[in-house]
Amino acid sequence: MQIHNISKQDSILNTFIAEIRDVTVQRDAMRFRRNIERIGEILGYELSKSLRYTPKVTKTPLGQSTDNILDNDIVLCSILRAGLPLHNGLLHYFDKAENAFISAYRSPKANTNSFTIVTEYFAAPSLEKKTLLLIDPMLATGKSLVAVYDAIKNNGAPEEIHIVSVLGTTEGIDFVEKHFPENTHLWIAAIDATLNEKGYIIPGLGDAGDLAFGTKQ
Ligand code: URA
Repeated sequence: MQIHNISKQDSILNTFIAEIRDVTVQRDAMRFRRNIERIGEILGYELSKSLRYTPKVTKTPLGQSTDNILDNDIVLCSILRAGLPLHNGLLHYFDKAENAFISAYRSPKANTNSFTIVTEYFAAPSLEKKTLLLIDPMLATGKSLVAVYDAIKNNGAPEEIHIVSVLGTTEGIDFVEKHFPENTHLWIAAIDATLNEKGYIIPGLGDAGDLAFGTKQ
């Protein structure tokens, strides 16, 4: 797997990451969602440099210009519900993309801190020969991404897979690497130190779904 950790190079991205982590700033749900969208836009721009382009002649008011235009058939696939703001950010740039949604949640195993991932609702177009962007803002254990990948395999074989994530851990990335094809790319805003016993990223930012959309019962 090719890992692209975008925060390694200083840019405005790191300001957005600091804001989504900050216990005070992150309380503003609208700002939290918008920051995740902005991170999606930046990751989408970085990822776009690895895609395929063909020249297109465009008529301008004063002549004509030949510009290289994105050629890939893109499918954006998000895990509900936390993936939605990141999905939106990517959709701002890949505006012709098809879209897929899948629900996945952690089902705790009795009397332990461990859990299995249950996938349920699934709506997706064909993935055959498409460029699949698998969107998961928090790559913690990596189990959700692997469960989602297993669930969508029946919809066809994508030509390329790009995982797009905001925060991850080395442990989760190693797990994902073992289960995805070798030529998969990971575009990630930042990689954190570790996971706690409940599978939360440390230092992380807390629960991305709750911060974006409110707590659940
Ligand atoms: N999901 C989250 O929202 N936060 C984490 O730290 C891990 C998984």
